[in-house]
Amino acid sequence: MKALVLSGGSGTRLRPLTHTSAKQLVPVANKPILFYVLEGIADAGVTDVGIVVGDTAEEIRAAVGDGSRFGISVTYIPQHQPLGLAHAVRTARAWLGEDDFVMYLGDNFLLGGISAQLEEFRIRRPAAQIMLTRVPNPSAFGVATLDDTGRVRVLEEKPEFPKSDLALVGVYFFTPVVHAAVDAIQPSARGELEITDAIQWLLDQNLPVTSSTVDGYWKDTGNATDMLEVNRSVLESLAPRCEGAVDDESELVGRVVIEKGAVIVRSRIVGPAVVGGGTRVEGSYIGPFTSVGEDCTIADSEIEYSIVLAGTAIDGVRRIEASMIGRQVRVTPAPRSPQAHRLILGDHSKVQIRS
Ligand code: DAU
Repeated sequence: MKALVLSGGSGTRLRPLTHTSAKQLVPVANKPILFYVLEGIADAGVTDVGIVVGDTAEEIRAAVGDGSRFGISVTYIPQHQPLGLAHAVRTARAWLGEDDFVMYLGDNFLLGGISAQLEEFRIRRPAAQIMLTRVPNPSAFGVATLDDTGRVRVLEEKPEFPKSDLALVGVYFFTPVVHAAVDAIQPSARGELEITDAIQWLLDQNLPVTSSTVDGYWKDTGNATDMLEVNRSVLESLAPRCEGAVDDESELVGRVVIEKGAVIVRSRIVGPAVVGGGTRVEGSYIGPFTSVGEDCTIADSEIEYSIVLAGTAIDGVRRIEASMIGRQVRVTPAPRSPQAHRLILGDHSKVQIRS
């Protein structure tokens, strides 16, 4: 059994945040989303992992390395263009060989891992096994229609008029017969080789395609709103810990993690929240559901329900909410602007807003 993790693609919906970096490396509770994926795979006992990479290959390699710290062995598989999920399987053909595999989209966040589903696949060994979950906006996903007995009948990719509210989660289990399917299909209207079409091809050949329903928490982290929501959910189960320096005039309330090397001065931090190593928080309020990365400065400011990436400085700003702020950003006050700010700022950006 192998695992194929898809970390190519362009991440347009998270621009400008992912203009300069991989969307799979955007951190949730200060840990890249891709790391949760790799941990889930390792927990399920799969150690042979291929990561499909595109333009951001170097950054992914630098972050993940050989995989040994996750207890897995990683092979990088370059995909010259993001031509679709089924194209990624074609690209990985030689590496996959005749093994069964789980394909896991590197931007999907699934709480509870994949061990139970993998076990089910091992026992039943259908041509393909998919995971489904009910969503309010099925048009944004692959959508499955089941018959009265619960068998998968039809799969459609991002249909304008969805026939059900059952979305395909980005975790798929395949036997090698899928290679015939990805070779047989043609690009979709959006110009991609869709894995949804490949699985539909298996159905059309009367090959067994089974499904299971995800009851636990799942999110495709394609946009900033989803990232903030995943961040909220992960922070909720945070075990409080303080390894930094907190002065007597500061207060930590609830589930708060202060990493080693962080300094908190005259500030109030209300969890769940995490402050990365090397970060200085002074005269500030950090509110619930906020992740502040490493080596940041938060001075005379208020921020909550937000993600701040490494190396960013926020000085004299009241107040920031529901915002994603990239790496090495400077946020400083400017005269005459509204009281509340909602920001999606890319790496290295500089904005001036009223304090
Ligand atoms: O998240 C679940 C959805 O994922 C499914 O419901 C859809 O059926 C499926 O097509 C997929 O839709 P998305 O539009 O969200 O896929 P996206 O283009 O965001 O790509 C998913 C991941 O795969 C992402 O980490 C980038 C990577 N990727 C994508 C493409 C198109 C590749 O590595 N290579 C590619 O060619």
